[in-house]
Amino acid sequence: MSDNLLEVHNLKKFFPIKRGLLSKTVGYVKAVNDLSFTIKPGETLGLVGESGCGKTTAGRSILRLIEPTSGSVKFEGKEVTTMNSTQMRHLRREMQIIFQDPYSSLNPRITVGGMLSEIIKFHKLRATDAEVRDRVEELLEIVGLRAESARRYPHEFSGGQRQRIGIARALSVEPKFIVSDEPVSALDVSIQSQVINLLKDLQVQFGLTYLFIAHDLSVVEHISHRVAVMYLGEIVEISPAKELYSNPKHPYTQALLSAVPHPDPRKKSERIILTGDVPSPANLPTGCHFHPRCPKAFADCSRVHPVLGKDNTGHSTRCLLWPESLPAGEKITVTETETA
Ligand SMILES: Nc1ncnc2c1ncn2[C@@H]1O[C@H](COP(=O)(O)OP(=O)(O)OP(=O)(O)O)[C@@H](O)[C@H]1O
Ligand SMILES: [Mg+2]
Repeated sequence: MSDNLLEVHNLKKFFPIKRGLLSKTVGYVKAVNDLSFTIKPGETLGLVGESGCGKTTAGRSILRLIEPTSGSVKFEGKEVTTMNSTQMRHLRREMQIIFQDPYSSLNPRITVGGMLSEIIKFHKLRATDAEVRDRVEELLEIVGLRAESARRYPHEFSGGQRQRIGIARALSVEPKFIVSDEPVSALDVSIQSQVINLLKDLQVQFGLTYLFIAHDLSVVEHISHRVAVMYLGEIVEISPAKELYSNPKHPYTQALLSAVPHPDPRKKSERIILTGDVPSPANLPTGCHFHPRCPKAFADCSRVHPVLGKDNTGHSTRCLLWPESLPAGEKITVTETETA
């Protein structure tokens, strides 16, 4: 039995592009394209990448809020993608999601207490009304809200408080695993760190495991044990967090990191500006999908698709500049190009 809580293998989610009167499929948006990673109990994996790279699609496919096209998701060793509806109902208690915009996912006509007690009763987590009420108050206090918040409606709360309500809702079923899909992107910077610190405390208190999705490497730095960087539906780099921030190996990660403000300006490397737009996931470039924007690309990068290869420190990269990324049987000639 493996010691991973979650194992994702070759996960794909392709959205068909339909055209014409007969809705013929003319192509696919390859939103998640062969994703593999694992998460251990109590660990946080940060998942980072630009808008449209497939982060939300990956999170939703793992929870089966959308059906994956192919691949395997194992939770505590059990295959999720083939579970029937009864098994899925049990699993929904173990795996929860926190959304970017908690307001649009909260019913404006139900009080916060009403919403939480509905979930507690639905899952039969407490027997009597008094126990349900106590549990609602306890949940609100756990996320740093006052017990009397139970009587108020979602619009009466600030953005940060609403996100705390979203967290209380996720916690109400006592899950083991939470996908946080950009939980702080919509919040003021000063509030962002409060919510991140709350999530960190809750992780220790309840032994939670997180997949923490964000746009930006600076957001996930202080919560992630490991970080995965996504580009066009694929992981291009994954490693323990400290190692990734101190020794980024993929030119895309290097560019993302160069955009992160550094508290010590002497340590700040030169800003790498990526040229060109992100290509469409419906029309992927040949070879390395990043090569059209890569400042270090050489001739073979447009021909050979690199594999996500692990070095001997446990740091994996998908870039032909690194020997571990060369597909078996391929030969390339690395030639220095002019850097932008
Ligand atoms: N239901 C859908 N039908 C068709 N295409 C979709 C659908 N959902 C997402 N996509 C496409 O899949 C790709 C990945 O989208 P996704 O929302 O997963 O990205 P993301 O990394 O979460 O972006 P963001 O940072 O903006 O939230 C995008 O090209 C998007 O347009
Ligand atoms: Mg998203």
